[in-house]
Amino acid sequence: MRFSWQEVPRPIVALAPMAGVTDASYRQLIKRMTPEAVVYTEFLSTDAIHYGAKKTMGMLHFDPVLERPFIVQIFGKEPAHFLSAAKVIEELGADGIDINMGCPAARVTSSCHGSALMRNPELACALVAATKDAVSIPVSVKTRLGWDTPDNLISFCTKLVEAGADALAVHGRTYTQKFSGAADWEPIYELKKSVGVPVIGNGDIFTARDAVEKIGNLDGVMVGRGTFGNPWLLRDIVDAFATGEIRSTLDRMSFTEKIPFIIEHCELAAEVKGERRGMLEMRKHLASYVKGIEGARELRSRLVRVESIAEVQTCLKPYLRSQ
Ligand SMILES: Cc1cc2nc3c(=O)[nH]c(=O)nc-3n(C[C@H](O)[C@H](O)[C@H](O)COP(=O)(O)O)c2cc1C
Repeated sequence: MRFSWQEVPRPIVALAPMAGVTDASYRQLIKRMTPEAVVYTEFLSTDAIHYGAKKTMGMLHFDPVLERPFIVQIFGKEPAHFLSAAKVIEELGADGIDINMGCPAARVTSSCHGSALMRNPELACALVAATKDAVSIPVSVKTRLGWDTPDNLISFCTKLVEAGADALAVHGRTYTQKFSGAADWEPIYELKKSVGVPVIGNGDIFTARDAVEKIGNLDGVMVGRGTFGNPWLLRDIVDAFATGEIRSTLDRMSFTEKIPFIIEHCELAAEVKGERRGMLEMRKHLASYVKGIEGARELRSRLVRVESIAEVQTCLKPYLRSQ
């Protein structure tokens, strides 16, 4: 059945798109724990997809059974490339396409992609319209509160919806804030009152309690950094919404109990990227998993040098007994 944002069970719980993080192995790990979650790729260049760049095309691979609904996030500024990239993505079997209008990185905004689109609503709408014209799967937008204030959030998003956007995810910070200060969800609640499409809130959800307290009138929550070293968080959030019971799986587990999951994550990374490359990319995750445990500093310094699963197992072996 075709995916529709209107029909995803509420509240929607989504894994945020994160460059260098939400590759197929990370998404699959999250989906094994939380089948209810909506997963996004990291942002992928429409120019690269248009020209068939090998590395980017490889990043479009996904598990067509486990990774559902599967949303591919794209960025760029050339409507013709959105059109051709969108067709490629639909043919690969993705459930939806999300357009990045929130990335604050200078290399992205300086060439009018990402957050810069908030200052160019005409181009932003042209990109949505071009993508909608190309495909029949839903097209959503992820954006921020605004460039330097949230004043234009409602007018900007209203135009995007008029151009065809089927859903919106909003990170509660402006472009100028980057990641500083606290995410402000109030403007997102106001936005929801003004548009007819699903609105997902994003920013600073680190516990199930955060999700329950922040969701307000929104259709769902999107979680990024809170999942680092805590792939159980989305499970806790889905359960909290369903039962009202606030739980932290992470806090209830000993490090020894986490080890099989850490190895599972390593195996997924090796499957998707090959063992050596997979382990190089796992290093940052391994550092997150050991945060807060006794002897973390020494263990971390060894884990950030691993090149094979066997090395990870050797590093973790003492913890199979001692904790
Ligand atoms: C390492 C990293 C990479 C990110 N990459 C993307 C991206 O590719 N596309 C995007 O829309 N947002 C990206 N973001 C922003 C997140 O999707 C999210 O909006 C932000 O982290 C706030 O949510 P959080 O407080 O739950 O982390 C990235 C964030 C981080 C930390």
